[in-house]
Amino acid sequence: MNKKRILSGVQPTGDLHIGNWLGAIRNWVELQHEYDTYVCVVDLHAITVPHDPEKLRSDTLSTAALYLACGMDPKKSSIFVQSHVPAHSELCWLLNCVTPLNWMERMIQFREKALKQGDNVSLGLLDYPVLMAADILLYDADLVPVGEDQKQHLELARDIAQQRINSRFSKDKENQILKVPRPLIMKEGAKIMSLCDGTNKMSKSDPNENSRIGLLDNPEKIKKKIKKAKTDQHFGLEFGNPDRPEADNLLEIYSMISNQSREIVAKEFSDIGWGKFKPQLTEALIASLQPIQQKYNALIQDSSELNKILKEGTENAKELSRHTLKRVKQALGFLESTDF
Ligand code: AMP
Ligand code: TRP
Repeated sequence: MNKKRILSGVQPTGDLHIGNWLGAIRNWVELQHEYDTYVCVVDLHAITVPHDPEKLRSDTLSTAALYLACGMDPKKSSIFVQSHVPAHSELCWLLNCVTPLNWMERMIQFREKALKQGDNVSLGLLDYPVLMAADILLYDADLVPVGEDQKQHLELARDIAQQRINSRFSKDKENQILKVPRPLIMKEGAKIMSLCDGTNKMSKSDPNENSRIGLLDNPEKIKKKIKKAKTDQHFGLEFGNPDRPEADNLLEIYSMISNQSREIVAKEFSDIGWGKFKPQLTEALIASLQPIQQKYNALIQDSSELNKILKEGTENAKELSRHTLKRVKQALGFLESTDF
C-alpha cells in the first residue's frame, strides 16, 4: 500500500526557537518514518513582510540546516527550498483567481500582521494563505503537521481545493483534481508559550529576545533566559491551573525535552519550588539542544553536503508537483504546450 504523504514548512525569518522545534519540526522527525515526507523552507512566504536580502539568503540555508540537525533524514524525506520549485508560485496564481477576496480578509494572522505593519501592508501578505494552500495542494498531501496557529490556513486550503477547484472543475466524482488535505495537530507542544508571559505564544517576531529559547542559543544564554523567565508566587509546579500559565508552560517544555510523561514530571515537581526547578530545566534544555547545535555547525561549515541534499529534494519536489500543476491547468482550460 502506498504511504500517506505529509508536507510542511517553516519560514526562514530569524532564528528558529524551541516552539518551532517542539510544535513542528520534532513531529516531522517522528512522522518521516511512517509517511512520504516533504518539507520545505518557505522563503517566498518570508518576503510578505519587509525583509533584508542578505539575511534571507543566510536564514534560508540555516533553516534547512536546522531541519537536518533536528533529525530530518534525507533518505526518508525530501527537503527543499520553496522558491527552487517554481510550481509553487504558478499554482498560487491559479488559485488566486478562484479564491474570493473576502475569504482572505478574515484570516486572523493577516489581520494581526497587518495591524503591526500599519500603512506598509503588501498584497503578498494578504495572499500568504493562498501560497500556503499551493504548497500543500501541489503535493497531494494527505496530512499537514502544523501548530495550532495554522489551523485556519489549513481550512482555507481545504475550502479552495474542495469548493473552488474540485466542485467547479472536476469532471466526475472519482477523478478529483486536488486532494483535500487534513491538518495534523499534535496535542503536545502545539503551543509553546513565551517565557515572559505564559498567555502569549512564543514567537520569532517578539521584540524581546528573552521571551524565547533559540535552537542555537549557547548554554550561557539559555541559563540567563530561564533565570529571567516569569514565575509566580506559588510553591510547587503544576499543569493545567489557569491562574498559573507559566508553570504549565515550563513544565510542558520540561516534559517534552526530557522525554518524560506529564504525570511523571507533575509528580517530580509538585513540591519543588521555582528556585530548584529552573536549574533543572536549564540543564535539560542545554542537553537537548547540544546535539542539534553540533550537527548544525558541521553542516554550515561545509555546506556542500547541505546543497546536495537540497538539490535532491528539489528534484523530487519538482517531479511530484509537475503532475498536479498539469492536472489543474488542464482542468482550467489552458492550451497545452510541450512542457505543460
Ligand atoms: P513560524 O515560526 O510562525 O514560521 O512557524 C513555523 C512552525 O512552527 C508552524 O508549524 C507553527 O505552527 C510552529 N510554531 C511556531 N511557534 C510555535 C509555538 N510557540 N508553539 C508551537 N508551535 C509553534
Ligand atoms: N504558514 C506556515 C507558518 O507560519 C508556514 C507554511 C508555509 C507552511 N507553507 C506551508 C506550513 C505549508 C505547512 C505547510 O508556520
